[in-house]
Amino acid sequence: MSEEVLLDVQHLKKYFVVEKNFFGQPTSLLKAVDDVSFQIKKGEAFGLVGESGCGKSTIGKMIVDLYTPTDGKIIFNGTDLSALSKKDRRKYCKDIQLIFQDPYASLNPRMTIGDIIAEPILTNHLRPKNEVEKRVEELLNCVGLSGSYRNRYPYEFSGGQRQRVGIARALAVEPKLIVCDEPVSALDVSIQAQVLNLLDDLKEEFNLTYLFIAHGLNVVKHISDRVGVMYLGKLMEIAPKGELYHNPLNPYTQALLSAIPSVDPNNRKKRIVLEGDVPSPIDPPAGCRFCSRCFKRMDGCESFDSILREVSPNHHVACKLYEQAGPGEAEHDKKEA
Ligand SMILES: Nc1ncnc2c1ncn2[C@@H]1O[C@H](COP(=O)(O)OP(=O)(O)O)[C@@H](O)[C@H]1O
Ligand SMILES: [Mg+2]
Repeated sequence: MSEEVLLDVQHLKKYFVVEKNFFGQPTSLLKAVDDVSFQIKKGEAFGLVGESGCGKSTIGKMIVDLYTPTDGKIIFNGTDLSALSKKDRRKYCKDIQLIFQDPYASLNPRMTIGDIIAEPILTNHLRPKNEVEKRVEELLNCVGLSGSYRNRYPYEFSGGQRQRVGIARALAVEPKLIVCDEPVSALDVSIQAQVLNLLDDLKEEFNLTYLFIAHGLNVVKHISDRVGVMYLGKLMEIAPKGELYHNPLNPYTQALLSAIPSVDPNNRKKRIVLEGDVPSPIDPPAGCRFCSRCFKRMDGCESFDSILREVSPNHHVACKLYEQAGPGEAEHDKKEA
């Protein structure tokens, strides 16, 4: 992994308009992503974890340009993508690819997998026409499928094989960054590890960088170098993998970790059961978003600024318990300006 930053997400926001008044002005906003900042270095795998609905996919979709951010910056390889025109932005689409959660829904059922993988190669003029077939076979082999499968249709494959096709299609354009949006959630548990290992191997082979989205911490444990934990549109904690799993500081991360079943009878942690439901992102609680369910809640959480603070090297936490830890990112920004 290099020290160079490939993706720098700064104060990213996405608000969806839920209700408009008679004059077409928004009267109710769903704050799917609310001021999220993180960086991913070249060659790094950054895991993004949180319960369903916390805004993970929305972040992924903004990075691959399926959604336009409400506010904030997405800086890719030194270029601020959010400041580009639609036409200039399109030039970067090739460099950032998305692997979807449901491989069946993301592959055109009327096309053979050969055509599905060839399509982006032809559209981007990456190979002369007579070399495309060879390239498709090469890509199928890379993801562990036989080149002879290219004339088959998506329905002829199992879930795991279809996800391999999705990965081959993403690799076809030789991307720099791949956003993997819960790529194994729809697969059988026995197949999940195979696909995760494949993604891990491909990362080394093609020098890729990953934003790896999952809803549980157990899935990203193997593949990620660093992990960010999200709750209701906000980042709660970011830390290197080992540090996050052994020394989780945010009570929400502690609860997520306690939900992972352990096979070691000597190492069974007490499960932290959170009370209540996740509040609606339409009317999120003021202050810390997690405070309505937090088991370490104290006075002042309702007005806490929810800024990530560096508690120890590379370990950032947004929690009232660590408010004194040092300057938050907002102060850093002010200094730089
Ligand atoms: N196109 C959309 N229009 C309105 N609300 C949306 C849209 N996409 C996502 N949302 C809402 O944004 C929130 C975050 O969704 P999402 O990013 O898909 O969560 P996750 O991937 O973490 O499960 C959810 O409350 C979801 O209902
Ligand atoms: Mg999602």
